[in-house]
Amino acid sequence: AAAPLVLGIETSCDETGVGIVRGRELLANVIASSMDEHARYGGVVPEVAARAHLEALRPTLEAALAEAGVGVHDLDAIAVTAGPGLAGALMVGVGAAKALAIALDLPLYGVNHLVGHVGADLLRADGGDLELPTVALLVSGGHTSLLLVRDLTSDVELLGETIDDAAGEAFDKVARLLGLPYPGGPRIDAAAADGDPEAIRFPRGLTHAKDLAKHRYDFSFSGLKTAVARHVEQAGETLDVADVAAGFRESVADVLTAKAIAACRDFGVPRLLLGGGVVANARVRELATQRAEAAGIALRIPPLALCTDNGAMIAALGARLVAEGHPPSAEFGADSTLPV
Ligand code: KG4
Ligand code: ZN
Repeated sequence: AAAPLVLGIETSCDETGVGIVRGRELLANVIASSMDEHARYGGVVPEVAARAHLEALRPTLEAALAEAGVGVHDLDAIAVTAGPGLAGALMVGVGAAKALAIALDLPLYGVNHLVGHVGADLLRADGGDLELPTVALLVSGGHTSLLLVRDLTSDVELLGETIDDAAGEAFDKVARLLGLPYPGGPRIDAAAADGDPEAIRFPRGLTHAKDLAKHRYDFSFSGLKTAVARHVEQAGETLDVADVAAGFRESVADVLTAKAIAACRDFGVPRLLLGGGVVANARVRELATQRAEAAGIALRIPPLALCTDNGAMIAALGARLVAEGHPPSAEFGADSTLPV
């Protein structure tokens, strides 16, 4: 039998994503973002995001079907992000997926967004299988999590996560302090290229011995953000934006990669997968590459279009569930804190 044709719907944050896959083959990946609408608030506004999903979902679905060259009646299954994420935003995707599944009489799978990021690896053009177990570091504007993946569909363990801001959120907030527009991640990344990462040493959250006992794989970026705010205030006219950007970026990249590599070492897992929009960061990529190489760890970074939130990764995870014979279920709701 041909691999299953699966539709994936993702609405956990500000991207309305609809993807279509046939097994591990990517047929369509269409994304509508409400980012511009959040720009003037300097961050994602949940109510605005939910409304934007409602408006964008149908045209995004139609564009994905056109891109894949299939009709809804060709589909074999539907997968949707059930959580974690913004409750109102998730509800739009889950409601749409349930309606489609009923109307088309198709099996439905509610999947975890973070596991979806790992599933993105299935769609790499170079094929090659993701060797397991692997540690996965998933970093975006909405989450910062470290997972131990032993089996994509049945054994994923959350090792740690941020206890306050997500790393991308920290980039966006610090950009605002520096007068850079939203989303701030790419702006800080660019500004940092002209700065000296050692000119200002910003704190590394949850890396002191006393914190490591309880938070070895957790992250914290709010203290870092406060330190930058204090520096900006004290520097006044003498503020060197490039140096602050470089010092801040160095702190984030250092903590993210150090904890990911530590997890690989602790669990004897010589593989690390990256995912999420912050993977675009030049220093995060560089430091991850250097440290993985030094530690004999194989680093996998999916193409950026599959790292940021998208429906194709949800479809790919759905296709894997279908292929392995997992039972579908319509008995789930949007769950903003859904565990892995
Ligand atoms: O995965 P993503 O597209 O989805 C959401 O979280 O909605 O991630 C977006 C986040 C934003 O916070 C953005 O500032 C950050 O990723 N980001 C970056 C870079 N590019 C995007 N952060 C640091 N450096 C970058 N180059
Ligand atoms: Zn995400």
